[in-house]
Amino acid sequence: MKIVITQKLPFEIEKYLQGFTLDYNKTDRDLTMDELKVKISDADGLICMLSDRIDKSIIDAGQKLKVIANYAVGYNNIDVTYAGQKGIVVCNTPDVLTETTAELAVALLLSVSRRIVEGHKFVEEGKFVGWKPELLLGTDLYKKTVGIFGFGKIGQTIGRILKGFDVKILYHTRHKNFQAELLTGAEYTDFEKLLKESDFIIIAAPLNESTKHKFTINEFKLMKKTAILVNIGRGPIVKENDLYFALKEKIIRGAGLDVFEFEPKIYEGLFELNNVVMLPHIGSASEETRKAMAKLCCDSVIDVLINKNKPIYSVN
Ligand code: DGY
Repeated sequence: MKIVITQKLPFEIEKYLQGFTLDYNKTDRDLTMDELKVKISDADGLICMLSDRIDKSIIDAGQKLKVIANYAVGYNNIDVTYAGQKGIVVCNTPDVLTETTAELAVALLLSVSRRIVEGHKFVEEGKFVGWKPELLLGTDLYKKTVGIFGFGKIGQTIGRILKGFDVKILYHTRHKNFQAELLTGAEYTDFEKLLKESDFIIIAAPLNESTKHKFTINEFKLMKKTAILVNIGRGPIVKENDLYFALKEKIIRGAGLDVFEFEPKIYEGLFELNNVVMLPHIGSASEETRKAMAKLCCDSVIDVLINKNKPIYSVN
């Protein structure tokens, strides 16, 4: 049986998938759609990245395809409904990346609130000539209100970590979650109250029709002028040119972004601002987690193709 793996993974994949024929792109170059169509034409399984667009045309090209394992928790890059119609199981990698991604959200938040990147540049440029009472003043997290938009496992874990900062936590998601409230002490609120009352807003939601462009200039205008926005969910949840305007005109104080609307392209204007910290989508990027994600993708493929079991993390 043949498995296509679209990029090099930090895991002994050839050893783990012995017995399969592997078409393994051992580079970090994205395959083109045409390359992928050719590779997938006789494949039984596919391990793909969130940067691979697995649309109808790719799914149709995989005539023998039985399983798609996405190397990410978010799977908005895959036409899951169409894959399901074709009897293809689609899997993702939740749980193993929860803590890692939540840690990055907190790191981004503090980087913006305490101006860490600006401070680093300042030192690097040789501008540090002595301690000053008003040098690079940030804002405290302690005792503030943090609003979490999207309260799945990652959102809840962010809440649990932030409890240590003695903050008030508000959350907004599709359904009130009593168990998560007990774990984090978070309080459910409607979207408007989340916008108006939070000092920090963290987006930890998946991208779907109801979350796309949920944050536009209208929402930024409802937020506090001192508010900081962090996005570790998906880029298109935020209208990026509106965010640029809000940051430039100081409608909000700052932003920390790990994801972008048209990734890997970034709205040019953002590079001119010093109240934004930008990362190249590294939410789950720790050695331990990326290895665990790779193993999980392999296990999903083995479950479907060999054990004929429903894998634990199938999304359709
Ligand atoms: C994912 O896996 O979907 C996240 O973007 C983690 O970075």
